Amino acid sequence: MANIYVTRRIPEIGLKMLKDKFGSFDMNPDDRVLTRDELLAQVKGRDAVMSLLTDPIDAVVLDAAGPQCKIFSNYAVGFNNIDLKAAGERGVMVTNTPGVLTDATADLAITLMVACARRLVETDGYMRKGMYKGWGPLLWLGQDISGGKTLGIIGCGRIGSNVAVKMNKGFGMKILYSDMNINTQLEAETGAKRVDLETLLKESDFVSVHVNLTPETTHLINAKTFELMKPTSILVNTSRGPVVDENALVDALKANKIFAAGLDVYEKEPLMAAGLAELPNVIVAPHIASATPWTRDQMAIIAAQNLIDALEGKEPQFLVNKEFLKS
Ligand code: DGY
Repeated sequence: MANIYVTRRIPEIGLKMLKDKFGSFDMNPDDRVLTRDELLAQVKGRDAVMSLLTDPIDAVVLDAAGPQCKIFSNYAVGFNNIDLKAAGERGVMVTNTPGVLTDATADLAITLMVACARRLVETDGYMRKGMYKGWGPLLWLGQDISGGKTLGIIGCGRIGSNVAVKMNKGFGMKILYSDMNINTQLEAETGAKRVDLETLLKESDFVSVHVNLTPETTHLINAKTFELMKPTSILVNTSRGPVVDENALVDALKANKIFAAGLDVYEKEPLMAAGLAELPNVIVAPHIASATPWTRDQMAIIAAQNLIDALEGKEPQFLVNKEFLKS
C-alpha cells in the first residue's frame, strides 16, 4: 500500500481521490503549517507527499523522505518553496497546479488596483468611524481607472495576460509589458507593447507584478525603481512577496513616491515589514488570490491527480522539474 502524507488539509474532493485510489493516507490533523521538525519527521519513509507553498522543501527534507519517495505534489501554482534540482537529483518529481487559478488571481489583482485607486479601504474605515459629515467636492479624491490609463504588467504569462486582457477590454487601458518572451497573442488581442522595465515603470499608471520568484526577480521592485514610478501610480503584487523590497515600499509609500499599493503576498509571510500596516495608502490581503471554492477544488483535483500519476508510474501532467530528473 502506498505511504502518502498530506502536510495540511486541502479540499475534500482531492482527499477523496487519494482515498478512493489508495485506501488511506496520513495527514497533518491540525489546520496549521508543520514546524520544520514535524515536517522532517512526517515525510520519513513516504512514497508521496502533498506539500503546500508554506512548506520549505530542501535537500534535507528530501533526504528525510528517503530514496523511495516519488513525488512532492505541491498544492500551488508557485513552486519556489521547493528545491527543484535537489528533488530531481534524488529522482523525486515535483508538480504544481497551473491554469485553474489564473482567473481568481487576476481578479484579485484587479480588485486591489481598483480598491487602491478609489481608496475603498480608507473610506470604509472613515464611514465606520462615523466621520462622514456629508458630500464634499474635494473629499477622498482617488485616481481614475477609465479614460485611457496605462497598465504595466511585469511578467506576462497566464495570469499577467489575463489581467491585461480584462483591464484592456473592461477599462480601455493601454497595456505595456515586460517579459523575457514576446506575447504575440496578447499583442494581437490588446495592442500591448513589450518594453523594458524602466520604460514600463515610468509610463504606467498601474503596475501589476506576475513574475515567478527567482534570484533574478528578488527585489526586482526596489528603492531605485520606485524613483522611476509616477507619484499617481499604483503597484499591485499578487506573485511572491520577495519580488518587492517591502522596506523600500514602506519608504516609498511614506514619501508618496507612488499613490498606493495593493499586496497579497509578503517578503516574510505571514509577517509584514515594520510600518506597513500603519500606512493608509496600502491595502493588505492575506495571500487570498486563489481563495475561491471552485479554484481551491480544482487545485485539489490537479494536485491529487499529479500524485496518483506519479505513484502509478506515469509522468504527471504538471511536472515542473523534468530537466533535473535523472532519466
Ligand atoms: C499559488 O498557488 O502559488 C498561490 O500563491 C496560492 O494559491
